Amino acid sequence: MDKKTAASGSGPRRLPLRVALLGFGTVGAAVARILVERPELADRLQLTHVFNRDVARKRAAWVPSTVTWTENVDDLFASLPDIVVEVIGGVDPVGGWVRRALERGASVVTANKVLLAAQGPDLLQLAAANHTQIRFEAAVGGGVPLIHGVREGLAGDNLRRVAGILNGTSNYVLSRMAGGGDETMASVLDDARRLGYAEADPSADIDGDDAGSKLVVLAGIAFHRHLRLVDIPRRSIRPITAADFRYARSLGCTIRQISLVEAKGDAFHAFVGPALVPAGSSFGRNEGANNVVTLFGQYGGESSFSGAGAGGPATAVAVVSDLLALAQRQAGEGGGEQWLPGRVVPPPARPYYVRFVVRDRPGILAFIAAALARQSINLDAVLQEPGYPKDALPFVITVEACEESALLKALAEIGAADFDVEPPLALPMLLGV
Ligand SMILES: NC(=O)c1ccc[n+]([C@@H]2O[C@H](COP(=O)([O-])OP(=O)(O)OC[C@H]3O[C@@H](n4cnc5c(N)ncnc54)[C@H](OP(=O)(O)O)[C@@H]3O)[C@@H](O)[C@H]2O)c1
Repeated sequence: MDKKTAASGSGPRRLPLRVALLGFGTVGAAVARILVERPELADRLQLTHVFNRDVARKRAAWVPSTVTWTENVDDLFASLPDIVVEVIGGVDPVGGWVRRALERGASVVTANKVLLAAQGPDLLQLAAANHTQIRFEAAVGGGVPLIHGVREGLAGDNLRRVAGILNGTSNYVLSRMAGGGDETMASVLDDARRLGYAEADPSADIDGDDAGSKLVVLAGIAFHRHLRLVDIPRRSIRPITAADFRYARSLGCTIRQISLVEAKGDAFHAFVGPALVPAGSSFGRNEGANNVVTLFGQYGGESSFSGAGAGGPATAVAVVSDLLALAQRQAGEGGGEQWLPGRVVPPPARPYYVRFVVRDRPGILAFIAAALARQSINLDAVLQEPGYPKDALPFVITVEACEESALLKALAEIGAADFDVEPPLALPMLLGV
C-alpha cells in the first residue's frame, strides 16, 4: 500500500499529510489556529508536531492533545513528517533544518524571505533532486497571493518589470508623514512600534533589507533568476523629512519605499528605496501597512496585487494555502523550478528629485548648476518654499533624466561644500509607475 493511501469502502483513500511546525510565534500560532479551527481540512492536513525553543511556555490549551510539543528538532524529524512548516525566520540554524527536511523527502512550506534570498537556488535544487517541494507564498506580500498569481497566473506572459511596495512598516511611516503636519520620522516610528507595525529595531524595514530580500524572491518567481541581495542598491527612508513631502506634493507626487526590478537585456535593473511616485498612482494611494505590487508583461500589460502584507492571520492563510496545494498534488511530485544566476546592472537614466539643506548665501544655486553641468546634467526646476530658517534652508531641484553615477559624482562635489547643513538627498522620480 502506498504510504499515503488507505483502503476504504469506496476505494483507496488518501491519508492526511502529517504537518510539523517549526516555530510557534506570530505566524506559527496563527497557522496552528487555522488548522485547528477548520475541521474540514483534517482529511488532508494533520498537525502532528510543534517545535520551538523553551517549548513549555508556548503550549496552548486550544491545540489538540494529539499534537506533540518538542524543543528537540530530532524528535520532529523522527516522526517522518510529510511537510515541515518553517516559521522561525533567519538563515541559521533554520537553513540546516530546511535542508534536512528536503533531503528526507519532506516538502517545506516557509515564510522566510531571508533564507530564500540567501539560499533559494540551492533549496529549489535540493527539493527537485529529492522529488519534493519548497513553497513560500507567505514570504512576499504576507497574505497577498502574489507568488501563486505570478507563478501560475502570469506564467504565460514574458514579464519585464516588477515594482512594489513590499514593506508595510516603511509604507506606514511614509504614508503617515505624507498626511501633512511636521511629524518627524522618529515620532512616527515610535507610534508604529506602539501599534505593532514596527520592530524595536526597524533597520531591516526602513533601510531596505526586508524589501530587498522579498525583491530577490519576486525576481526568482518572475524571471527565474537569482539576484544577489548585496548587488541590489538599497537606500534608507531615514533621511526623508516633512519638507520632502511638501516639495513632492508641489510636483504632484508623494514618496514611498519602492522595490523595482526590470529586465534589461540578459541583466536587470534593481533598486529598493524611497522614490517620488505620482500621488494618484496605485503606489501613491497605498496607505498604512498595505502592500501593492504591479507587474508589467510584454503581452498582458500591467497586473496588480494588493492587500495585507503582514500580520499573523493573513500570513498564516498563505502558509495554509501552500499546505493545501501540497495536499492536492501527488506526494513526491517535484516542482522542478530553478533560479539561474542573474546580473544586476546600474539603473537607466531617469529624472531625480534632489533636496538640499543649506546655510543660505548668494551663489549656492550657481555652484550647484556648475557641478551638475560638469556631469552634463540639466537642471529642470528649482523649488523653494518660504518660511524656513536661513541657517537650515531646505530647497529642491529636479534634474532631467541622467545616469545615477553622474548625479552621485556631482552630489559628492556639492555635498563637500561649506554651505551644506546635511548631505543632499537624491530620490529617483518614478513617474511611469
Ligand atoms: N509576522 C508577520 O507578519 C510575517 C509576515 C510574513 C512573513 N513572516 C515571516 O515568518 C517567519 C516567522 O515570523 P514571526 O513573525 O512569526 O516571528 P516570531 O513571532 O518571532 O516567531 C518565531 C518563533 O520561532 C521561535 N524561534 C526563534 N529562534 C528559534 C530557534 N533557534 N529554535 C527554536 N525556535 C526558535 C521563537 O521563539 P521565541 O518565542 O523563544 O523567540 C518564536 O516562537 C519569519 O521568517 C518572518 O519573516 C512574518
